[in-house]
Amino acid sequence: MPHPGPAPWWSRALFYQVYPRSFRDSNGDGFGDLDGVTAKLDYLKTLGIDAIWLNPVMVSPMADNGYDVADPRDVDPLFGGLAALDRLTEAAHALGMKVTMDLVPNHTSSQHPWFQAALASSPGSDQRERYIFRDGTGPDGLHPPNNWVSIFGGPAWTRIVEADGNPGQWYLHLFDAEQPDLNWDNPEVFDDLEKTLRFWLERGIDGFRIDVAHGMAKPPGLPDMEGVKAEMLLADMDDDPRFNNDGVHEIHRQIRTVFNDYPHSVAIGEVWVYDNEQFARYVRPDELHLGFNFRLLRAEFDAADIRGAIENSMAAAAIADATPTWTLANHDVDREPTRYGGGQVGLARARAMAMVMLALPGAVFLYNGEELGLPNVDLPDEALRDPVWERSGHTRRGRDACRIPIPWDGDTPPFGFSDTPDTWLPLPPEWAALTVEKQLHDAGSTLSFFRRAIEIRSSRGEFDGRSIEWLNSPTGCLTFQRSGGLVCVLNAGDTAVPLPGGELLLASDEVIDGHLPANAAAWLA
Ligand code: NOJ
Repeated sequence: MPHPGPAPWWSRALFYQVYPRSFRDSNGDGFGDLDGVTAKLDYLKTLGIDAIWLNPVMVSPMADNGYDVADPRDVDPLFGGLAALDRLTEAAHALGMKVTMDLVPNHTSSQHPWFQAALASSPGSDQRERYIFRDGTGPDGLHPPNNWVSIFGGPAWTRIVEADGNPGQWYLHLFDAEQPDLNWDNPEVFDDLEKTLRFWLERGIDGFRIDVAHGMAKPPGLPDMEGVKAEMLLADMDDDPRFNNDGVHEIHRQIRTVFNDYPHSVAIGEVWVYDNEQFARYVRPDELHLGFNFRLLRAEFDAADIRGAIENSMAAAAIADATPTWTLANHDVDREPTRYGGGQVGLARARAMAMVMLALPGAVFLYNGEELGLPNVDLPDEALRDPVWERSGHTRRGRDACRIPIPWDGDTPPFGFSDTPDTWLPLPPEWAALTVEKQLHDAGSTLSFFRRAIEIRSSRGEFDGRSIEWLNSPTGCLTFQRSGGLVCVLNAGDTAVPLPGGELLLASDEVIDGHLPANAAAWLA
């Protein structure tokens, strides 16, 4: 492990991402909230997770579901306020689970008092210096300062009206216009983030997932970008001037000094950087503890592609002697059963990939509903809430399809998610078959499968060890052995293949006569 002494708790932790507005609604307003999470902690405990990651719950006008923070040191009333977070943290800790939160240091809400003060002041003022304001180009500053586009679509600049009523400067927003980017060259910005970090860490929060951790530093002179790359979550961004600028590492070093005062805590960066050397820089010993590596999530259901993703993720972490991380889903990407082809085949592949992920050394992140095998949901236009839909001029539908509330019980929507049928996103009637209640009573369900897999991962010595070795396998398959002894076989081909010898611990589908069917995985001791 990168740290002398016993391995830190997060080095092989199973994190569970709770999208709070979609998890469980305790007060019948149609939005999930923190008391709803507390009410379901037993479920998470039985599932076998070690830590929760909560998407942003700070005070927000919710232009981007909380990634637009107006007060970083308070909890939004929509989620139950600060007292509800304290209740959740206390109850989770009593059950032996950690609680981590989202932190949004790249931008604030346009309703944040700092941005409101910037609007009310004049060009060049201290208030404007907290954000990235520039004069426009062309006659009367009519055009934006450069050609950057917003990740959500449209220009990354919005022009303001000055106090005298005339069109004035432009401000930068890599995301929605309601999310102005902060100026990290201004020391006030770090000072305020430090206050925020200490505020939550003192309250018992165990760490943070850091949003757009590769984005805070902007390149000197803000040069134009080549080509239009709107979709951060899919595009290859390694040569994009908006992200991964050198200055970001000094920011992470500063942030790390605060974490070092709370040695149990963890900083996990959202790092959409693919080059291994570049990625490794974020997880050096004085920067982030963990960085999300999205290669496995981006891989096709193809043995060579998956193997490449695993090899590169491990290699990137190894460069910095850091812990690898694995994730297949989150609130920004299509759910696995849909991504891997949909229907029963998509679900079978999702289960198989979960076994591959859970077999690997390092920290693993599950996204709520993944354990139920939930697919994306096609929503009608009028149900869409993601700002991407409007900002892209209705050309991209956004991420609502993977953010549908969790179906807990009962036979009709909203399946125990809320007391009101009028939920912020609708649940489809066909999810009657996928509720937690139904799956708990079915030994063959995806939920029962996840519970078994997680239990095996946490209880067997075969899952020890930091390295893996590739073994020979039939065409279309991949087989690796963990240094603790576990053998994992994935059949991404078209026909059943014979399994190697050993005790079969688990298979994602039925093994017949020692053969693993297509679209399935197996663990052997
Ligand atoms: C990444 C988050 O995961 C995404 O949901 C959000 O829209 C952007 N960062 C902007 O904060």
